[in-house]
Amino acid sequence: MSKKLKIGILGGGGILGAHAPGYTRLTDICEVIVAETDVSRHDSIRKLLGDEVEIVGDYTEVLANKDVDAVDIILPHHLHVTAAIAAAEAGKHVLTEKVMARNVYECDQMIEACSKAGVSLTVCHDRRYNTDWQALKHIVDSGELGEILFWKLEHNQNVVFPEKSWVRYKDKLGGGAIMSCLTHQIDSLRWYGGEIDSVTSMSKVEESRMEGESIGAIIARMQSGALALLSINWYTQSHQAPDGLWYEFNHVTGTKGEAYFMSGKGTYVKIHDSQSKLFEYDMKGEGGFVKVEPQDDLTGHQRCIDEWVKSLRGEAANIVTSGTDSRKTVEVAEAAYRSEESGMVVKLPIAPLPWR
Ligand SMILES: NC(=O)c1ccc[n+]([C@@H]2O[C@H](COP(=O)([O-])OP(=O)(O)OC[C@H]3O[C@@H](n4cnc5c(N)ncnc54)[C@H](O)[C@@H]3O)[C@@H](O)[C@H]2O)c1
Repeated sequence: MSKKLKIGILGGGGILGAHAPGYTRLTDICEVIVAETDVSRHDSIRKLLGDEVEIVGDYTEVLANKDVDAVDIILPHHLHVTAAIAAAEAGKHVLTEKVMARNVYECDQMIEACSKAGVSLTVCHDRRYNTDWQALKHIVDSGELGEILFWKLEHNQNVVFPEKSWVRYKDKLGGGAIMSCLTHQIDSLRWYGGEIDSVTSMSKVEESRMEGESIGAIIARMQSGALALLSINWYTQSHQAPDGLWYEFNHVTGTKGEAYFMSGKGTYVKIHDSQSKLFEYDMKGEGGFVKVEPQDDLTGHQRCIDEWVKSLRGEAANIVTSGTDSRKTVEVAEAAYRSEESGMVVKLPIAPLPWR
């Protein structure tokens, strides 16, 4: 493909800081145009993408541009469904940030619109493209941990948004921290350990922060039989304090070994009898855990954008977050909310219901 791709980035807020470095390294094969209604953000967009970058207001201006081949949706969650459908109808391929949409009903509308228009639908679940998270997947897939018994995935952040921010409103966020951000952990769990059979969940709202829950926990039974515990705590400063804990933590226990990823530390594995074909062990090390060195220093967002651009150019691409797959992540979060409402364990699949 010789012609440069033209990508419309819909939204120029906080997460553009992670997407922009994905595009600035690909300027020989693609150019971008950004839609951002808040003009006070235009300077920071120029800082990230260069002074010459084309910036317009409402995203519909980008969709009306015939030269745009594809769009990268980084808008508030309640706009993902409308923007994705409009983009598909305008013949643009779609990449959307997580979370795909507020519920499975909206995900289905997006999938149907893209399928009808013959355009691709990909979700930027960046953890699946992050080298340390991929290392953990590689360990699990090797089979060296034996039968997987237990997963523990945690997400810790101190989330305080200004009063008018969309994040504070259930209707715009699609709920609270579980739908917004524990979906990183749900998505990774499904990728690592296969599909989820059933969930039970509880959460805690702290009204000074937001309408939806700031804290939540899900217990899941995997189809494999393993158990999983996922938690989100948006009311902690654990990873910010110099002597604090962690931002994200994924731990897997198998009959023959264990492995974990911890933010700021990397990915580690321990095979209990140290008989490994894949990993070299120095069992004198404390606890016998061995670090798996990262392959490269690309961020998850950069690799996701790399693979997506390859796919748009018709090249072989490793897309591991299609719309149909990511829908199942939203389904688990929605099932968690239904579990809390009913006080019951909820078995998947669930019936789609319109947003209310
Ligand atoms: N992967 C991650 O770790 C991660 C982290 C943060 C956010 N995100 C995701 O990124 C997405 C955006 O989040 P954010 O933090 O950047 O939010 P944000 O509020 O900072 O940015 C959203 C931007 O969209 C703009 N916008 C709203 N309506 C528009 C319209 N009609 N046309 C053009 N622009 C419009 C807003 O003015 C705002 O600048 C969400 O899906 C969020 O979950 C992902």
